Amino acid sequence: MPSHLLSIDALDRDAVDHLIRIAGRMEPIAQRRKVTRVLEGAVLGNLFFEASTRTRISFNAAFCRLGGSVCDTTGFTFSSMAKGESLYDTSRVMGGYVDAIVMRHPEQGSVAEFAEATRVPVINGGDGPGEHPSQALLDVYTITKEFARLGKPLAGAHLLLTGDLKYGRTVHSLIKLLSLFDPLRITLVSPPGLEMPQPLIDRVASRGHRIEIRPSLADDFSDVDVIYATRIQRERFTTEMTESFQELTADYVVDRGFLDRRCNASTFVMHPLPRDSRPGANDLSVDLNGDPRLAIFRQTDNGIPMRMAIFAHLLKVEEEIDRDLRDVRWYVPETFGVDDPAL
Ligand code: NCD
Repeated sequence: MPSHLLSIDALDRDAVDHLIRIAGRMEPIAQRRKVTRVLEGAVLGNLFFEASTRTRISFNAAFCRLGGSVCDTTGFTFSSMAKGESLYDTSRVMGGYVDAIVMRHPEQGSVAEFAEATRVPVINGGDGPGEHPSQALLDVYTITKEFARLGKPLAGAHLLLTGDLKYGRTVHSLIKLLSLFDPLRITLVSPPGLEMPQPLIDRVASRGHRIEIRPSLADDFSDVDVIYATRIQRERFTTEMTESFQELTADYVVDRGFLDRRCNASTFVMHPLPRDSRPGANDLSVDLNGDPRLAIFRQTDNGIPMRMAIFAHLLKVEEEIDRDLRDVRWYVPETFGVDDPAL
């Protein structure tokens, strides 16, 4: 793996398996049973020029749980980019201050351009509709854990990706990452105008995966193992798209009724979050809360060990983590959420 994490393009299957293995070793720390200080003294620069809750906080928490500290900046308003500073200058300056950088920016390609000006590891936390590689890694980590829990093999699995497949950067990184695995069946369902970009479909198909496109969720999905739903990325719509886009109908909603009627008992549901819970948004339904088939909070929890793994790997301390583990001394609840299902 190169010194930055900018795109799934730079990863091969061995690198992915390696990160999954390290993430597994991070679990006792992420679950707050053990403490490590392998990154003691190291500083992370978190540069978020777009809205974020999970990605920013989980990168921050992951770095802290390895013993490092974090400098955070959010939005353009309070950064010198508002004064016309280039990505090059900001990058070189930050490189002198911190040991790793996570950046989220609204323009596709911007994080890669930023990374060109520094040797300090840069992680792409989302570049417009481009990519979100750490999300895809935690998604695949979640998929492998869920399949292991269900006692099912991943080879030949059937995944349904639905929602905004055009502007959703998480699904762009995810489908690239899935293409590194043994042949899978991937079904795509998106509202008209929000289809997965054709080059991505071609690339995945050329690697031996079976891709199917269906017009809506009003169909039989009883052999689907995983549903990956996404939010409509209205903030990325062109004016023309905003004017022509029809509100989502119930034909695209993943809810309890859809799972009960059209899927099977072990189908589980993922979503990168946030889900739009406002009335009429027709995003992933809250009526699945507390249902063990809803894996979204196991998925967000998995963001911590996977992001710890990414830092440990980029900063070359992955062999040190088991060394000075100590027990946690503070109160930790049995489950993190009040509705967490017993599995
Ligand atoms: C996503 C993002 O920002 O790309 N969220 C995330 O990082 N988990 C998805 C979204 O905004 O819909």
